[in-house]
Amino acid sequence: MAKVLVVGGGGRCHAIVHALSKSKYVDEIYALPGNAGIAKLAMCVNIKDTEVDKIVEFAKSENIDLVVVGPEASLAIGIIDKLEEAGIRAFGPKQNAARIESSKEFAKDLMMKYNIPTASFKSFTNYDDAINYVKENSFPTVIKYDGLAAGKGVVIANNFDEANMALKDMLLDDKFGHGKVVIEDYLEGPEFSFMCFVDRENVYPLEMAQDHKRAYDNDLGPNTGGMGAYSPLPFITKEDYEYALNKIMIPTAKAMVKEGVPFKGVLYGGLMKTKGGIKVIEFNCRFGDPETEVVLPRLKSDIYLAFNAIIDGKEPVLEWEDCYTIGIVLASKGYPGDYKKGFVILNADSDDIYHMGTKIDDNGNLVTNGGRVLFAVAKGKTLEEANKKANMLVDEIKCDNLFHRTDIGAKAYRK
Ligand code: AMP
Ligand code: GLY
Repeated sequence: MAKVLVVGGGGRCHAIVHALSKSKYVDEIYALPGNAGIAKLAMCVNIKDTEVDKIVEFAKSENIDLVVVGPEASLAIGIIDKLEEAGIRAFGPKQNAARIESSKEFAKDLMMKYNIPTASFKSFTNYDDAINYVKENSFPTVIKYDGLAAGKGVVIANNFDEANMALKDMLLDDKFGHGKVVIEDYLEGPEFSFMCFVDRENVYPLEMAQDHKRAYDNDLGPNTGGMGAYSPLPFITKEDYEYALNKIMIPTAKAMVKEGVPFKGVLYGGLMKTKGGIKVIEFNCRFGDPETEVVLPRLKSDIYLAFNAIIDGKEPVLEWEDCYTIGIVLASKGYPGDYKKGFVILNADSDDIYHMGTKIDDNGNLVTNGGRVLFAVAKGKTLEEANKKANMLVDEIKCDNLFHRTDIGAKAYRK
């Protein structure tokens, strides 16, 4: 029987811990830092997910059999390299392969070199050069900070003033860090997430999902870290799927091997179905959040064995339940802007509710502790049924300071 450590603390890690808890090969799960929901399934350890040396020490002292890493920040600072050096089995890409997410320029150069379809682009470190380029091109234009920016590094500029402000922030004021940007063409179409287990050039697809980024129903309001997701995707045809796999995900895995930075872990393709074909918007080097929370509940096969298969260079068994899942985020009022924490939450005990930002307060109450707080997932034979059930689950939760969208997945079934 195995002892597994999951690094991370949000809804994605709760879903990974939940999936691992169903494995007959796993008897002890640790999570760091975890959260109040994860604590029901795993022993939560008070170490931050970027405290790599402490994590290695903990994994060694507890004789952990497998470490699974959720967040990009941990991967980008080389947690897998350090764990492997210490002789600990770990699931995720090494630091040099995690660059596919941590450097936009690395990802874009790779796509250009290997003809992987994406928006055309140029990168800049000099503000005047970037401004001149923007002046010569049309709007909207997309300005991306070259580095991890916790989802805040992308600006869709509709006019010169917006572009100028973004470039000043990223190149002159050094607001984010070292100051390099990628400026790329604006693309249009539905976005979708294609996560695949990757072992060097071998690619094993997971089921697709779609995130909903805008805060309010009908895709209104500001962009967020994601307000809900569903899986699978009726708007993706068999041809779309084949194209995304054979022209994007497999060539990318092969390209990374050729570049000497083989990828092992979950490669996340953030793709867009444009009129001109499917194109890459971004790659991530890890499970998506909140996509993971709607994809893993549909996995019938053993995830512990799948993680080990990838580490050992073998083909994982991946079997999926034939159903739809819809997940709805309950977020603190005010999110993605300012919000208050510490509101008591009742009736959130269901196994189908993943915790994103919760904690137990000094009085032993479950309270809100973040922008996105809970994620309620339901299954259905149709998307409509899954949506109805997910909304019912949400309606049972009692808390004075949460809001949610009611239309997750609705575009796919409302005509
Ligand atoms: P990224 O962090 O690169 O995924 O970008 C965040 C979001 O910005 C994406 O989910 C898209 O909605 C949007 N976006 C990024 N690149 C483009 C593009 N070239 N055209 C249109 N929208 C984009
Ligand atoms: N859902 C977007 C992400 O995981 O980056």
